[in-house]
Amino acid sequence: MTIPPTESLLEINQNHYVMSKSKLNAVKSVLPLIPKKGVLGLGSGSTVALFAKELGQAISDGIVNVQVVPSSYQAYQLAIEYGIPLTNLDINPSLVLTVDGADEVDKDLNLTKGGGGALFQEKVVAFASDRLVIIVDESKLVDSLGTRFEIPVEVLPFALSVVKRKIASMGVFPTIRMAQRKMGPVVTDNGNFIIDLKFPEPIDEPERVSVVLKMIPGVVETGLFIGMADEIHVGTEDSSYVVRRAM
Ligand code: A5P
Repeated sequence: MTIPPTESLLEINQNHYVMSKSKLNAVKSVLPLIPKKGVLGLGSGSTVALFAKELGQAISDGIVNVQVVPSSYQAYQLAIEYGIPLTNLDINPSLVLTVDGADEVDKDLNLTKGGGGALFQEKVVAFASDRLVIIVDESKLVDSLGTRFEIPVEVLPFALSVVKRKIASMGVFPTIRMAQRKMGPVVTDNGNFIIDLKFPEPIDEPERVSVVLKMIPGVVETGLFIGMADEIHVGTEDSSYVVRRAM
């Protein structure tokens, strides 16, 4: 087998992420928040991929001198691809800022995350951060979570059927997320499965739902990020705006 040179691999990776003007505008909006030095959390997803490219450029231009804790294998690979120095939570358990994407953002800045299956490490990295800043396009804004996007839940494989049964008994429809270009379920970076939950109605009380789900043995983590985000940078086709948590 011929191994392609590194440049070719980078090209393939870069082309994988769809360039969207709105996502890029969200990224540009967040760049001034990057401290001159310090340790950041690097989220996951296609919007974060655009952010990582800009961050790598700022580092190579000598504008900032930061390290990142990646929230997934994807984020780890992005850091390597764009020359961003890596560290981890054992060395740096306290982060000044995490920049991440989201699948839905409600009017109270609660989030649904996990479209890319990285919700568990994303939540740990966000929890370790003084500040969580989210970059999205306007399509992610909803009145209530569960409107357009199902709620991902990471589950220990051993407990899968028990967890599914319990959730179905609550009137919520769970679907095991299946892999693409591999037979069987998605296996997360932590070796677990993901189930996506379809609620009969958009979720009125996301905090209560989050607690109820976390109480089920075998649920590793949910994609509901309640009260964690400090700012949402929303990109539009030709501009951006910021929504902040009320003090
Ligand atoms: C990864 O598991 C997710 O939480 C992502 O952060 C989220 O899906 C947003 O991804 P995009 O930026 O690709 O929409």
